[in-house]
Order: sequence, then structure tokens, then C-alpha cells
Amino acid sequence: MIGTATIEDTRRLREIDKLCFPDNAWTIADFKKEIKDDNKIVWCAWHPSLALFGYIAFDKRSGYIDSLAIHPNNQKSGWANDLLIVFERYLDAYEIPTARLHVAVDNVPALMLYLKRGYKIKGYSKKYYESGADALYMEKEI
Ligand SMILES: CC(C)(COP(=O)(O)OP(=O)(O)OC[C@H]1O[C@@H](n2cnc3c(N)ncnc32)[C@H](O)[C@@H]1OP(=O)(O)O)[C@@H](O)C(=O)NCCC(=O)NCCS
Repeated sequence: MIGTATIEDTRRLREIDKLCFPDNAWTIADFKKEIKDDNKIVWCAWHPSLALFGYIAFDKRSGYIDSLAIHPNNQKSGWANDLLIVFERYLDAYEIPTARLHVAVDNVPALMLYLKRGYKIKGYSKKYYESGADALYMEKEI
């Protein structure tokens, strides 16, 4: 199931982020800021018999994906794909023409996910992340 994140979810979101992004996980404060921001949306993936196990956070004006992660125990089950489908439907409904994101050049699972969903590489940003890693900039016309 996919639902809107609340402030009560931030501790769990932080746990997931630490596992998924050991070098640059969002803090609880980062998640609270994103959830409270009227221009942002944070949707969670969860199951009645499981804790919340994934999320997508994006800017609803620009269609920019701020973050996306699925708990390692729940990866490869189609959840990121489902979150992107719902995200793209939202952009379509609100006539936001383009979905956008950055992804680290060495993040093969994420790169494969976006390519599979029709995102195209549009740019290369050197030292985009605090760690010094380079990023690819990708877009998909909705
Ligand atoms: C990238 C990530 C979000 C994918 O989540 P997921 O729920 O496992 O992905 P899905 O099960 O929906 O997979 C959809 C497609 O993505 C690609 N993919 C996902 N994991 C992959 C992997 N480990 N290796 C290669 N391709 C992969 C495949 O094309 C897959 O389609 P297939 O199952 O038909 O082969 C997840 O690995 C993750 O949270 N990683 C850490 C955080 C991160 O990198 N976030 C993205 C930041 S831009």
C-alpha cells in the first residue's frame, strides 16, 4: 500500500535511509522538513503486516525526485517501480510535464530502474554529492 508520510514516520524513514544511503542519509530533521513543506510530497510504501519499508519524496511543482529508497529486506519486489508509477500519475494529473532526478553514476540498481521506466540521461554533474561522487541527471517526459 502507498500512503502519505506523517511526522510519526520520520524515525522509521531515517532507519531506512541509513541502510540505503550509508554516506548521506537524510536526518530525522530532513524528513520532517520535507513532510512539512507544502511544495513537497512524501509517500510511503507499507504493508499491514510489515513496518513501513520504503518511500519517495518529490517536489510537486518541478517533478523533481528528492529521494527514493526501499528497505534492503524488501528490494527487488517491484516497490520502487510502483512508487514511480504513482508519482508519474500524479505529475500527469497535475500537468507537470517532466519527471526529473539525479542518480549517482555507480548506483546500478537505481540507474536500471529509471532506464527501465523510460527515463533518459540528460546530463552529467561532477562531484554532485557531498561524498564527491558524480551524478547523472535524468528526465522523463510525462
Ligand atoms: C534503487 C531501489 C530504489 C530499487 O528498489 P526496488 O524496489 O528494489 O526496485 P524494483 O523491485 O521496483 O525493481 C524495478 C527494476 O529496477 C531494476 N533493479 C532494481 N534493483 C536492481 C538491482 N539490484 N540490480 C539491477 N537492476 C535492478 C530492474 O530493472 C528492476 O526490474 P526487474 O525486476 O524487472 O529486473 C533500491 O535498490 C534502493 O532503495 N536502493 C538504495 C537507495 C537508492 O539508491 N535510491 C535511488 C536514489 S536515486
